[in-house]
Amino acid sequence: MAVIETVKGFADHLPDEAARFAFMGGKAREVFSLYGYKEIHVPIVEYTDLFARSIGADTDVVRKEMFTFPDRRERSLTLRPEATAGIMRAYVEHSLHARESLSRFFTFGPMFRYERPQKGRMRQFHQVNCECLGAEDPRVDAEVILMLMHYLEALGIKAVTLELNSLGCRQCRPGYREALRGFLLSRPAEGWCEDCRRRLETNPLRVLDCKNSSCRKTSAGAPEIAVLSCPDCRAHFAEVRGLLDSLGRAYILNPRLVRGLDYYNRTTFEVVSGAVGAQSAIAGGGRYDGLVSALGGPDIPGIGFACGMERLALLLPRSPEREPDFYIAVLEDRALPTAMSLAARLRSQGRSGLCAFSAASLKSQLRAASKHEAAYTLILGGMELDKGVVLVKDMRQGGQREMFLENFSLD
Ligand code: HAM
Repeated sequence: MAVIETVKGFADHLPDEAARFAFMGGKAREVFSLYGYKEIHVPIVEYTDLFARSIGADTDVVRKEMFTFPDRRERSLTLRPEATAGIMRAYVEHSLHARESLSRFFTFGPMFRYERPQKGRMRQFHQVNCECLGAEDPRVDAEVILMLMHYLEALGIKAVTLELNSLGCRQCRPGYREALRGFLLSRPAEGWCEDCRRRLETNPLRVLDCKNSSCRKTSAGAPEIAVLSCPDCRAHFAEVRGLLDSLGRAYILNPRLVRGLDYYNRTTFEVVSGAVGAQSAIAGGGRYDGLVSALGGPDIPGIGFACGMERLALLLPRSPEREPDFYIAVLEDRALPTAMSLAARLRSQGRSGLCAFSAASLKSQLRAASKHEAAYTLILGGMELDKGVVLVKDMRQGGQREMFLENFSLD
């Protein structure tokens, strides 16, 4: 019979991979709580309109990457392509802004984008995501960026580059957009790819981060927003950079870092790594000061980021899976009940381990213990049982000794 496989772009997380994801989730809880961030979870399905209004109708994500379908009453629903929009919806829907002037949230889970799958790019992928709402202060920007870098360091991920840009604000961006469009339209039309020809009209900033080499050549020398933005935006960005400088956090300025989602303004950032293939962005984020009001809430500023967990997983230094503390080898059937109660006792003391379910030769059980990389093999044969002892074999250092079963622990 034909075997049913996973849907293209969707993947199983077998135990090794699942352990990596659990490790990343655990570290997220550990690190973000140090900064007062609280865990939040929002649904995987939202009304399509939420994403069109927040991410922007002309973004690649909304135009061609969403999994959108009608429900049984013909309402258009979408599998979330990112978490920010849903968190903002929850923030407005539950008036969370009325509870505290500054809110800090983190979440992690699956996201869905209909992209061409390749290394580090999936249709179902996972993000670790943080949002801070309620302050425009550049200190918040600096802290959010530092927290992201802290998280990556806690995962043991090094050799990454932090890129930084500022996209101006609602006041100065329209002027910049027009200046940029004027420049881009003055360039030879045949230099643009099909997408950029459309972007020239609808979203000229996105032309700046088109990966097509002809588009890059044609857009060379384009005016930079960091230069053309208003004095407030320039001062804000200078302060963010100054804070990162004073805290010794290295970064590079990338004037083409415009991000793929339309809600951003002012500070934007990405973390890139040369070690994950063509999809080099392992995290991205920025400020989105008009987003809450665009979703019908008060005019509350915000900033946040998301890391791609599949890409982080490619960079984790080693498997975070926990090896068992013990393996109980049973040489005679009559030792089985004692073996099970010993295993239960050790587990109640927080020790992890496996216990043979049937008696077998010492050789085969030592092989099993090594395969599972147990720290100790606890050998129980008829002789040990009669003497009330267990033979403890240290699988890492070598050597073995007999210990009384009564009150036995691995401490
Ligand atoms: P984003 O840049 O679209 O931002 O995605 C963040 C990260 O998710 C990317 O840097 C990448 O590592 C990962 N990612 C995106 N698409 C895929 C994919 N198809 N397969 C694997 N990984 C992927 C956002 O989503 C914003 N919501 C971030 C944010 C939060 N901004 C403010 N708050």
